[in-house]
Amino acid sequence: MIRLEGAEKYYTTGAEPIHVLRGISLHIASGEFVSIMGPSGSGKSTLMNILGCLDTLDKGTYELDRRRVDTVNNSEQAKIRNRKFGFVFQQFNLIPRLSALRNVELPMIYGRLPLAERQQRARQALHRVGLGDRCSHTPARLSGGQQQRVAIARALVNDPDVIIADEPTGSLDSHAGEEIMNIFSELHAQGKLIIMVTHEHDIAAYAQRIIRLRDGVIAEDLRK
Ligand SMILES: Nc1ncnc2c1ncn2[C@@H]1O[C@H](COP(=O)(O)OP(=O)(O)OP(=O)(O)O)[C@@H](O)[C@H]1O
Ligand SMILES: [Mg+2]
Repeated sequence: MIRLEGAEKYYTTGAEPIHVLRGISLHIASGEFVSIMGPSGSGKSTLMNILGCLDTLDKGTYELDRRRVDTVNNSEQAKIRNRKFGFVFQQFNLIPRLSALRNVELPMIYGRLPLAERQQRARQALHRVGLGDRCSHTPARLSGGQQQRVAIARALVNDPDVIIADEPTGSLDSHAGEEIMNIFSELHAQGKLIIMVTHEHDIAAYAQRIIRLRDGVIAEDLRK
């Protein structure tokens, strides 16, 4: 499903360009559960942003479902991103003044679904992460783990094939982290492809494959 060949990425904000990804070739099949580990600054988030079509390559190729995505224009890239990927970040990125339900509805407001159907799907997504009874709560009235579950419901609501999660348990205690990983394991069992960055070994162990980055290259790629 995902084929990255010779991927390179530079940043040129400072005086010297930084070579962040230095030739990454990576194949990921549909339905895998992959953890990405590696030291701070090794390029994990940069790689995730490229995989999720949030950012583009400077060199190399990216094929998604046998189709080149590194050569498409911005609006085409956005379409692919919205259809194909759901994103979960370390900071839950919920809108504070909106209820859980409204937060989960957000990815659908650009679609053509009528309001009633949007609400129905948002409710189902919240139910799926065990928050069916918290629809009207604003983020401030939810625990960190619950807020992250709302963020997962939001990522699921357009039924993406791939979940991209960058340190999804990084702000949670170990109990809440386990709850999040149980949800990811269920989603994986239901056929979603999950690609997750983590610094924690117990969290990485939920995946079937662990990729380690070091200085912008793949240092290790292990399957269970
Ligand atoms: N937008 C940017 N502009 C300039 N440099 C950047 C940008 N984003 C990342 N970098 C640099 O690229 C390198 C890799 O960053 P990246 O965020 O991918 O690392 P990471 O492995 O996710 O680290 P962490 O574990 O701390 O999240 C770092 O040296 C960082 O400073
Ligand atoms: Mg990062």
